Amino acid sequence: MEIHIVQTAAIGQLGGELIARQLRSKPDSILGLATGSTPIPFYKEWISLVGKGELSFARARSFNLDEYAGLPRSHSQSYWTFMQENLLRHIDLQASATEIPNGEAADLQAECVRYDRMLESAGGIDWQLLGIGHNGHIGFNEPGPSLTAGTHVVELAEETRQANSRFFDSLDDVPRQAITVGMGSILKAREIVLVAQGEGKADIVSQALTGPVTTELPASFLQLHAKVTVVLDEAAASKLPASLLGSTRGVEQL
Ligand code: PGA
Repeated sequence: MEIHIVQTAAIGQLGGELIARQLRSKPDSILGLATGSTPIPFYKEWISLVGKGELSFARARSFNLDEYAGLPRSHSQSYWTFMQENLLRHIDLQASATEIPNGEAADLQAECVRYDRMLESAGGIDWQLLGIGHNGHIGFNEPGPSLTAGTHVVELAEETRQANSRFFDSLDDVPRQAITVGMGSILKAREIVLVAQGEGKADIVSQALTGPVTTELPASFLQLHAKVTVVLDEAAASKLPASLLGSTRGVEQL
């Protein structure tokens, strides 16, 4: 596991370097993309690099991690809308090369099967971007007595609905279900980049990276993956034990 600690304002720049390295080595990469506040600095930087002609997604494909069930795509808080506004509309990734689970499907189970088939026929994810929930979820793989390998319909944890209610008029408006790519597809990604910023994530990041591997903290399974890059700002890294901090380069100046 490679851990980078950078100033909050430098997270985007590092995100630009990481994607540039990936696309340089494999221009037709299958990218696993995420939503939420966490990836926004990455996406801003990618848009800027594409605008300057320094980065191209023209040969890449993307698969998003998740989508709310029952929200129309056109809803301001659907992840489809989030992706268009925060990334896809502004870069040269082809519209036909971007996949997001269809939360409006009449048969959600069939949609999960369809999504897994697409992922499989694409050869799986080369480079997976992840945020982490305050409860340790990745994608919408919520803590519980078991985890699911494939794409599935999930009941959102109350904590997740509360956290996401900041984007809705009220808690009641936050969907109760979502479709999420499962732990199997995430852990089969050839490289995973986990990003967290802010003090609010410090405890869960430390537990995920150093605590027991448990379904009660889905991100802890990343400890079992061969190629994980962790990007943290100083606040999110503030609870990491000395044993892990020793393997970092301190706060890196980019
Ligand atoms: P956030 O969410 O980026 O909005 O903090 C992360 C997550 O829930 O995975």
